[in-house]
Amino acid sequence: MSKKLELLNAKREAAFLGGGKKRIESQHNKGKLTARERLHFLMDEGSFEEIGMFVAHRSKDFGMQNEHYPGDGVVTGYGTINGRLTYVFSQDFTVFGGSLSETHAEKICKIMDMAMKNGAPIIGLNDSGGARIQEGVVSLGGYADIFYKNTMASGVIPQLSAIMGPCAGGAVYSPAITDFILMVENTSYMFVTGPNVVKTVTHEEVTAEELGGANTHATKSGVTHFACTNEIEAINHLKKLLSYLPQNCEEQAPFDDYESGNESRHKLNEIMPENANQPYDIREVISEVIDNDTFLEVHKDFAENIVVGFARLAGRSIGIVANQPAFLAGVLDINSSTKAARFVRFCDSFNIPLLVFEDVPGFLPGTDQEWNAIITNGAKLLYAFCEATVPRVTVITRKAYGGAYDVMNSKHIGADMNYAWPSAEIAVMGAKGAAEIIFKREIAKAENPQEKWLEKEKEYSDIFANPYRAAERGFIDEVIEPAQTRSKLIKAFKMLENKVVNNPRKKHGNIPL
Ligand code: HXC
Repeated sequence: MSKKLELLNAKREAAFLGGGKKRIESQHNKGKLTARERLHFLMDEGSFEEIGMFVAHRSKDFGMQNEHYPGDGVVTGYGTINGRLTYVFSQDFTVFGGSLSETHAEKICKIMDMAMKNGAPIIGLNDSGGARIQEGVVSLGGYADIFYKNTMASGVIPQLSAIMGPCAGGAVYSPAITDFILMVENTSYMFVTGPNVVKTVTHEEVTAEELGGANTHATKSGVTHFACTNEIEAINHLKKLLSYLPQNCEEQAPFDDYESGNESRHKLNEIMPENANQPYDIREVISEVIDNDTFLEVHKDFAENIVVGFARLAGRSIGIVANQPAFLAGVLDINSSTKAARFVRFCDSFNIPLLVFEDVPGFLPGTDQEWNAIITNGAKLLYAFCEATVPRVTVITRKAYGGAYDVMNSKHIGADMNYAWPSAEIAVMGAKGAAEIIFKREIAKAENPQEKWLEKEKEYSDIFANPYRAAERGFIDEVIEPAQTRSKLIKAFKMLENKVVNNPRKKHGNIPL
């Protein structure tokens, strides 16, 4: 046995070295950790169990029969993160640039199948030069197998992707199908075609970082949900994100211990500006309402006119969607609609209750928005709320105008509890515009049209710039003192915790894409 153990240990040691010391050094020189170092920081100490350490590629072309590295460029396995079972694959750039061979793909698929069977999240740490060029079509087939499994797993188990190096060509589509993407500034990039191809085809000169770096995707495209300054920050973010999520779609997210106390938050009575057109930061409202320091904002720097993220309320994991009056007056546009729609669908897939703060003047007008399909994109958010069956609560803090009133989790589309602050204004449009349309003739005929307009604006405002018309109809369940918001929400979500709604049986809906 001792000889056999020696052999086993030698093989293990070879596997731990990946592509060898030199390539590990080169990885470190780029400011990157190795695949195994990343796992060391991600998984609970001593919990990681590797699967497929000795898997070898089957390629024989281009001298590949003589080049073998145990594990074939990806470390796969399972372990725990904060005590909860998680499956993981970590691509090893030191082995053929982390490129995806047939067997590399098989290892990832195996771990995905296990995650699905056992109902636990899967995390992919991506660092790869893409399809293994020496293997040709079998490598492409391997990618397609992964895409298919990503799609089948969507909505069943949480899938998280951290991009920690190159991710180019069709390879980007696996992370894109998963639920959340994290990127690392300056060392990771994602694009369908790199700078050289871009230059040849469109004559644009652009660096990899500008084209598909973390900041580009965090601010311009919204492809990544988080941009992290380094790999350790990305790993810590992964752990934090997981703490808000259930293991699978049949479970609830874990509760944090919580001791109830005085839930009044008097600062909330002071937040609303005197003038309804003055901005305020909705994050201030959010942080007063939720448990201390529990907000994990998603897509923080993309479509900032809407704020989305996870938080805890009396220990319960919730998803928050909030118009942001401090950015573009909180207007709904294409990017904010798609950002929020995807978040709402994620929360609904995984039984995370939704809390909406509403202060929205309407949809953004203009040719840019219309020609780029604000109709279709705005409909995504509407559709996402309509089909969501998790507990849903709305608080209208100020404006709820026009179609945006309907879209933002109104009672009519299935919200369970709708609260309004006394500062709420719920109407078809703002008083100024409304007066101009419905009193057009009266204003034109008046001796002093400007004065008449103001008079009519006030008349409309007196009737509608409040929450009471909506409350009379029961569209608002209660008009509340802002200071009591937290207390009301804790009770409402507790009351809704066993909510059951079954949407009509169907193969699947046809969300406007
Ligand atoms: C095989 C690869 C490889 C690949 C890199 N390597 N990419 N081996 N297949 N796709 C190997 C290199 O030969 C090198 O081996 C080692 O990995 C490190 O690569 P370097 O080029 O030295 O590293 P770096 O300078 O950091 O550049 C990294 C890189 C570059 C930008 C990723 O390697 C690159 O452009 N690779 C090709 C990318 C590509 O075109 N992939 C196919 C995309 S198409 P040694 O032995 O020297 O260490 C695709 C289709 C997917 O992926 C379709 C799915 C539907």
